[in-house]
Amino acid sequence: VAADDLRDLISQKRAGGAFSSADTARIVAALLDPRASRAQLAALVTTGVLLGFDEQETVRLTEALVASGEVLNLPPSDRPAIDKHSTGGVGDTVTLVLAPLLAACGARVVKLSGRALGHTGGTIDKLEAIPGLRTDLTPAEVAERAERVGVVVAAAGPGLAPADRELYALRDHIAMVDDVALIASSVMSKKIAAGAEHILLDVKTGDGALLDDPAQAEELARSCVRIGQAHGRRTAALVTDMSQPLGPAIGDTLEVIAAIELLASTEQPGSSGPQARLRTLVTELAVVGLRLAGIEDAAPRVEAALAGGAALERLEAMIHAQGGDPGVVSRPRAGFAAAPVVRDWTPGPGTVVGIGCRGLGELVHELAARSRDREEAQAAGLEVRCSLGDTLAPEQVAVRIHAPSAAAADAAEARLGQLVRLGRGPVEVPPLIHARI
Ligand code: URA
Repeated sequence: VAADDLRDLISQKRAGGAFSSADTARIVAALLDPRASRAQLAALVTTGVLLGFDEQETVRLTEALVASGEVLNLPPSDRPAIDKHSTGGVGDTVTLVLAPLLAACGARVVKLSGRALGHTGGTIDKLEAIPGLRTDLTPAEVAERAERVGVVVAAAGPGLAPADRELYALRDHIAMVDDVALIASSVMSKKIAAGAEHILLDVKTGDGALLDDPAQAEELARSCVRIGQAHGRRTAALVTDMSQPLGPAIGDTLEVIAAIELLASTEQPGSSGPQARLRTLVTELAVVGLRLAGIEDAAPRVEAALAGGAALERLEAMIHAQGGDPGVVSRPRAGFAAAPVVRDWTPGPGTVVGIGCRGLGELVHELAARSRDREEAQAAGLEVRCSLGDTLAPEQVAVRIHAPSAAAADAAEARLGQLVRLGRGPVEVPPLIHARI
């Protein structure tokens, strides 16, 4: 891609022009060309972000990102394939519960996931806390497991939408990540390249999300749904709350344990236990996903798969098929190495009036970073035993800290005192589901 070409494209965008398919293909080729000027690409992205990309440009960018790499095709089956994606959160254990649940309800779930990004957690990191489990599956292994087990969660290989990786790194370098059109094309290019037939999106909003503002998150959800439809994929999105951790655990091992305990629990829908918000969101997403795939009796199927143990059994089968120790399913608390220091934090009495959700995610990454080895890092984390609006008694545990050392636990306690704010109620708690698109 010649320097003059990129220069002309920058001028064109500055003058208010939109990028055609051919323009977009040139930009994407430049991203993958090490000789192309990074300064020009940065100027081009910046101009686009400041002046805005229209809907057609966003669809074209997605198309070009998909075309930059390999495209997976699942073998045909009478079970519909559902893919799910979260824009990233804290204590967002959804995939570990939802993927086997959808499989137990008659769908095939092929989920290609990523690692932790910024303050958020990554599904691949969580799964790798299970002894022996492999996430680096070949496309043939992914297809085989999708057919035989109904659910497979693997690392997205470097061949899928490689230009997205370049573009994301550039955006990150120049502080241009939080742009709706660029996030939408980034997310959707990977879903489309992975062969998703039905795409279910969980777009987070609030302090612990990529986009704090619910209106922007809704715009992102709409943009993703339009891109999916333009590519012939049935797509739906929920905009959901990330102003406090979603589930009762943050940290790789702790979230795997929480997922197993949720699938094994007899907690009733609508109950107020520590898993209530996670459980509610998982069941809502499952129903939306199954309906998207044309399964009508979705709600009773979901409840039956949870109550009857079929979803837990699919998780066990998935772990086994990916080389992990399926024994962790029957004894989750004993199946993993514990953190060297486990300490309860009791800040009460008082009402929880604020939770720094992003800060809790960062704190867990700090605990992991202070660990001496991988096992300690996986075991590090927080069990959050309180929600916004809860009134804590004097000795009530608000957070259980899992730390690699006493010094790390001391530092975590000090930080928690800033992140979990106590005061007098009442507290306005944001709704769990802001919008359905
Ligand atoms: N996740 C992605 O995959 N891409 C983005 O741009 C942001 C979050």
